[in-house]
Amino acid sequence: MRATVTAHSDYTISRIDDRVYGAFLEHLGRAIYTGIYEPDHPTADADGMRGDVAQLVRELKIPMVRYPGGNFVSAYNWEDGIGPRDQRPTRLDLAWHTSDSNQVGIHEFAAWCDTVDTQMMLAINLGSRGLDEARNFLEYVNGPTGSYWGDLRKKNGRADPFDVKLWCLGNEMDGPWQVGHKTAHEYGRLANEVAKTMRAFDKSLELIVCGSSHSNMPTYPDWEREVLEHTYESVDHISLHMYFANREKNTANYLALNEKLDRYIGTVASTINFVKSKKRSSRDVYISFDEWNVWYHSNKQDRAILDGNSGWPHAPRLLEDIYNFEDVLQVGLILNTFIRRSDVVKLACIAQLVNVIAPIMTDPKGQAWRQTIYYPYYFASVYGRGTALQLAVNCPGYDAEHGDNVGYVDVSGVRNAEEGTVTFFAVNRHGSETIDLEVSLEGFGAGTVIDHQVMTHASLEAVNTAADQHNVAPRPGSGARIEGKLLSLRLPPYSYQMIRIKA
Ligand code: AHR
Repeated sequence: MRATVTAHSDYTISRIDDRVYGAFLEHLGRAIYTGIYEPDHPTADADGMRGDVAQLVRELKIPMVRYPGGNFVSAYNWEDGIGPRDQRPTRLDLAWHTSDSNQVGIHEFAAWCDTVDTQMMLAINLGSRGLDEARNFLEYVNGPTGSYWGDLRKKNGRADPFDVKLWCLGNEMDGPWQVGHKTAHEYGRLANEVAKTMRAFDKSLELIVCGSSHSNMPTYPDWEREVLEHTYESVDHISLHMYFANREKNTANYLALNEKLDRYIGTVASTINFVKSKKRSSRDVYISFDEWNVWYHSNKQDRAILDGNSGWPHAPRLLEDIYNFEDVLQVGLILNTFIRRSDVVKLACIAQLVNVIAPIMTDPKGQAWRQTIYYPYYFASVYGRGTALQLAVNCPGYDAEHGDNVGYVDVSGVRNAEEGTVTFFAVNRHGSETIDLEVSLEGFGAGTVIDHQVMTHASLEAVNTAADQHNVAPRPGSGARIEGKLLSLRLPPYSYQMIRIKA
């Protein structure tokens, strides 16, 4: 099979916001406890944070990490996580039916973010709490000393404000499962008042209002319209979430799900424009896709805990999806979609980062390793920075549940003018055909291939484990060449690849 792509240096979509490669950590399962934090671990630092995990996180060059939830945040008291650790309360977490020792709170998380060289994106509780908690938390985190909250922060060991710019106004408030679930009207009114109050403290904050939890929600996309009608002038982003699953074991349908993602983004972008026009507004609101990933492998095993039949365990093995090679392709496709939608998606977070539906897994007291999906996320985060190219792609396609004529090749292109590089991320969705891909490079000058990484596997079900950590991993590609303006490479069946050109 043959496919052609034309890339022209003048045909661009948008500058990609680096923050589209963000991640998410929730007080859920073993994300925090025995994930990033394990004081007894041989690699733990003075704060109890695992050095081996920090090293794997650092490699990903993550711009920001959303914290502390997720559903957890909607009944969370941030004050439980400050002050001397031995005096912090253990609380029951209503979202995941577990208990939390609060040994990690805002100070420990901030220090960890410094260690892994990332920024914080904080969520406030608009479920069980409201405006007062939001302003107090904001003043505690960002306020000057000489004020009540600033002085308390100083007493707890941190004189300088943390200076957090990104704030999520609650989490999935459209979901009946959420503690303090609200209608779009109730939430929109509250979110607007909270946003105004937070802006009164600091105009430069970037505020994220909740959109739909997924595009199958009965209230979608009216929820976005109504919430934005209340908040348009006071927020910067609207948050969307989507999780991907292959429950029917239908790979063709599974690998076409990013068509649904693309429509979801398109619909919400249109809704933003609708409200903008209706309000005669001159400001722009963007999309924060602050939860996305594959999530289904662990559903059955989680049931007993989520149904409350296991009591209130601390840091149980919840949402521990073991990712396979098929999921590599899916994550590559999702990231390609964000690159192509970089004009509207300015923030995004893989959900989550460690142990809980995560690219990094740990054994308590043991090793930390990369799950299969670590790699496409790594390649996009490290090499997908710059300007998204508007590619013209020509290739045969197939009809799937969520899209017609879905191309067998899915490709995105990024030009980094500072480095003088062009990078392509390509997925072959075909299970038996190798695709000969020809990319016509227009307006870039002479080019040479500087890096080519390929991921394939004999089995879509292949996974990485503590004992076999490199079963699914990238290998250097061969045979890619540039002749004149033409880059040619072969995409084996079911493969992911990243190819970088100096041009
Ligand atoms: O990431 C897991 C959960 O998925 C989050 O807590 C919630 O926001 C979403 O439903």
